[in-house]
Amino acid sequence: MAKKSQTTFFCKECGYESSKWLGQCPECKTWNSFVEEKIIDSSSVLKSVSRGEKLKPMSLSEVKLDKEEKIKTGFSELDNALGGGIVKGSLVLIGGAPGIGKSTLLLQVCSNVEKNNKKVIYVSAEESLKQIKLRADRVCKFTDNMKFLNESNVSNIYETMIEEKPDLLIVDSIQTMKAVGNEGMPGSVSQVKESSEVLFRLAKENGIAIIIVGHITKEGTVAGPKILEHMVDTVLYFEDDWTKNFRLVRCKKNRFGSVNEIAVFEMGNNGLTQVENASEIFLAGRPSGASGCVVTCIVEGRRPMLMEIQSLVCKSNYGMARRTVNGVDHNRLSVLIAIIEKRLNIDLSGMDVLVSITGGIRSNEPSIDLAVIVAIISSYKNIPTEPDAIYCGEVGLSGEVRSISNADIRIMEAKKLGYKKIFLPKANVEKMDKSLLDGIEVKAVSTILN
Ligand code: TYD
Ligand code: MG
Repeated sequence: MAKKSQTTFFCKECGYESSKWLGQCPECKTWNSFVEEKIIDSSSVLKSVSRGEKLKPMSLSEVKLDKEEKIKTGFSELDNALGGGIVKGSLVLIGGAPGIGKSTLLLQVCSNVEKNNKKVIYVSAEESLKQIKLRADRVCKFTDNMKFLNESNVSNIYETMIEEKPDLLIVDSIQTMKAVGNEGMPGSVSQVKESSEVLFRLAKENGIAIIIVGHITKEGTVAGPKILEHMVDTVLYFEDDWTKNFRLVRCKKNRFGSVNEIAVFEMGNNGLTQVENASEIFLAGRPSGASGCVVTCIVEGRRPMLMEIQSLVCKSNYGMARRTVNGVDHNRLSVLIAIIEKRLNIDLSGMDVLVSITGGIRSNEPSIDLAVIVAIISSYKNIPTEPDAIYCGEVGLSGEVRSISNADIRIMEAKKLGYKKIFLPKANVEKMDKSLLDGIEVKAVSTILN
C-alpha cells in the first residue's frame, strides 16, 4: 500500500495545528488562515539540541541573578524602549516591513555593544558578508572583536554559538532560517516555529541575548512575528511615523519592562541617528498658523498613531456644493456636517467641504469626529487651531462628545511626542487615573457647543 504523504495544516496567524483543513481557526478565530505543510519530525528539534540530562526543579532563592544583566545598546532611546537594555539570555524580536532599516539599526547596535568589550556575532542569511561590509563601511566602525557569519542552518548556528558563547547574537532574519530535517520552505510556519524554538533554547540555556529579525508583509502571508511573539521575551516593532520622516521603534511586549515605550530615529546617509526631542521635530513638520489643520490620535489594536486631519471649506462655484473626502468615510462626513449646521447654526450648504487625512491613512474610528469638526470649523472661520493640541472624541447627533476607548494610550502617545494639550471627552477624563495627567493639559469636553 502506498504511504500517504505526511502533511498537516497550520494556522498562519497563531500556529494552531490540525490534521484537516479548517475554514476558521478554533484557536484565534481567524478565517481562511490554514496552510498545508509537511509534518515536522518533532524528534528533530530534540535531536539537534537535547543533551538528555535529568532536570532539577529549583526554588527561587536558589536562582542567582547576575549583577550586570542588561546590555546597553548605545542608543538611550532604544534602551528606554527595551526597559533599560537587553537582558542577558533574553530573546528579542524586532519586526518591521522590508527596507525599514532593521539591519542597519542592528549593525549600529552591534558596533556600540562590541565597543564595551562584549562579544557580538551577527548572523545574516539575507546578505552576503561583502554586502554587510559595504553597509558597515557607511554606518559604523568595527574592531576585530566583532564577528560575522553568513549561515541559514539554525542547527549549525546552535552548535557554533555554544562554542563561541557570544554576549549578543543577531539573527537576520528568522524567515530565512532552516532547521535540519524540515523540508518546508524557509519562512513557512513550521520552519519559523522550529527555528525559533532552537534559538529559544540557545538563549535560555547559555545566557546569550539574541535579537531576531522578523519580516512582516502587508498581506500577512509569511508566517511571521505573530507566532514568534508568544515565544520571545520582548517584541519591538520598527515602523514609519505618520509624517514618513522618522522611524519609530515601539515596544509591544516586554517581560522585563513596561510596554508603550517608543524610540524615535531618523535615517540619514550614515545610518540611523536617534532623535531625542521628538516633540520639536514633529511639531515643526506641520504648517503653523494654517487654519483647518488638526491633529488627532487613533488606536489600532493597542497601537496608537497620531495623524493630521486637514479641511478646506470654500464657496462653491457650482450649483451643488461638493463634499470631498480622503481617508474619512463619506457618509460620516455628511453626518458631521449636518451636526455642525444644526447644532452650531453654521450654514455650509453653499460651501465645498474637503476633508483629508494626511499621509494616505484611512480611518473609520469614531474618535476622529471631534478633530474633523474642529478642522471644518477652523477652516470655515479661517482661525488656526492651537498647534500643539490634539483632539479626540466621538460626536453624537445632538452635538454631545461621547467617550472613546483607550484614552490612556492616546494621552501617553501625545505626551511622548511632545504635545502640550489634549481635548478629550469629559466622560473619559472623569474616570481617568490622575497620574496620567501630569505633563499635559487635558481639556474635558462634553459638547461641541463650547
Ligand atoms: P535595511 O537596514 O536594509 O532594512 P531592513 O533590514 O529592515 O530590510 O535598510 C534599508 C533602507 O535604508 C534602504 O532602503 C536604504 C536605507 N539606508 C539609508 O538611507 N542610509 C543608510 O545609511 C543605510 C545603511 C540605509
Ligand atoms: Mg535586512
